[in-house]
Amino acid sequence: MTRLIKKTIFPGIMLVLLLTTAGCKNTGTVKKEAAQPLHQPELPPLAQTPPMGWNSWNPFGANVSEKVIRETADAFVSSGLKDAGYTYIVIDDIWQGGRDSTTGLLYPDHERFPSGIKALADYVHSKGLRFGIYSDAGTMTCGDRPGSFGYEEKDAKLFAEWEIDYLKYDFCYCPDYASLHNDYKMAIARYKAMGDALKATGRPIVFSVCEWGPRSPWLWGREVGGQLWRVSYDVGDKWDEPRNEQSQIGILTAIDVMCDLERFAGPGGWNDPDMLVIGLKNSGFIKGGGCTYEEYRTQMSMWCMFSAPLMLGCPVNNMTEETKSILLNRDIIAIDQDPLGKQAFRVWRKDGIEAWKKPLSGDRVAVAFLNRNSREGSVTASMEQLELDPKMEYKVYDVWKHEMVSQPVGAMATKMKSHECQVFVLTRLAK
Ligand code: GLA
Repeated sequence: MTRLIKKTIFPGIMLVLLLTTAGCKNTGTVKKEAAQPLHQPELPPLAQTPPMGWNSWNPFGANVSEKVIRETADAFVSSGLKDAGYTYIVIDDIWQGGRDSTTGLLYPDHERFPSGIKALADYVHSKGLRFGIYSDAGTMTCGDRPGSFGYEEKDAKLFAEWEIDYLKYDFCYCPDYASLHNDYKMAIARYKAMGDALKATGRPIVFSVCEWGPRSPWLWGREVGGQLWRVSYDVGDKWDEPRNEQSQIGILTAIDVMCDLERFAGPGGWNDPDMLVIGLKNSGFIKGGGCTYEEYRTQMSMWCMFSAPLMLGCPVNNMTEETKSILLNRDIIAIDQDPLGKQAFRVWRKDGIEAWKKPLSGDRVAVAFLNRNSREGSVTASMEQLELDPKMEYKVYDVWKHEMVSQPVGAMATKMKSHECQVFVLTRLAK
């Protein structure tokens, strides 16, 4: 893209300047026009649907390498992930070797990235995929590598030269990051500095704000140039663990954090409840104890109900059939990627079972039942309780069974396993 801009826009500008100079008798005017700043081309709208891809942190953490990234890109193509819509391959923290004391430029760890980042970006692009990287708004990253504080323009320019398409931007070691003070203004200023620097490169780069939620990034994420913003602390490979900034949280906690944030999400700006742990089974870098496949299916279901970014967090060259069946379920992905971009909201709760509703395009609606209990249960909810029109008839499609299902008149009812989430798409029938 940078090359394209250089090839097409630069000669164009030169031609305009030459023509202006040739046609103008007053040289003073020419000088004045030439001194004006060049007009930045409008960037295309980014992330009109939630970004889908993969991030290295959960499976590889500090062991990420160019080999891992190349194998991941290959597996995206061979496993069908690319065809299902997963696009971004993002290197998370601990890719950095340091910052050059003379040039001030970041450089990668040469042992794990011997070919350099640009060559890696080229490889990922050659597979028809997009490439992302990680930095931090503070002086150091969460993994104690150099952060971008004070180097925003330099780093953004370097990232654009490397042709990255996505930047995850963390918040460790910002002056106030661990205090209870939660300095909103400082967070806004640090994220805006990088957001502006990215825009100034002229390259479309998705900006992933990773402040974890304490400073309500849903209120200012868009304004600083973000297309997604983390609303929760790190989700571990575990079902339930209360909100805690010192340790991982569980899938269920992240679901609760998302509740009531629906009005802040929509095309171009998404609430991000963190990456998926599906398929990890307590392997990889982050651990947490592991989840059952039922619980992984629930994470996929709820993240899609939320229109959350779908960033995979397992090694994708070695997925079990069960993991594949979850990550490649196009019916549930279609709910995540629905062009309306509405985040689900909780409409009903009884005895540990709750119902969530997500308006979809084409006058349809998705309804999810979530069983939080560690025992089986059954649920019957009337259309009124689900905030649906009781006078309407609907055809009901089960997105995990991949078939139409019949429902009692004026209600929805189903039996549920422990920690299960069932998702249905309801389409109105003309009366
Ligand atoms: C923070 C982020 C994680 C990950 C690590 C890397 O904890 O929330 O997602 O990026 O830093 O150090």
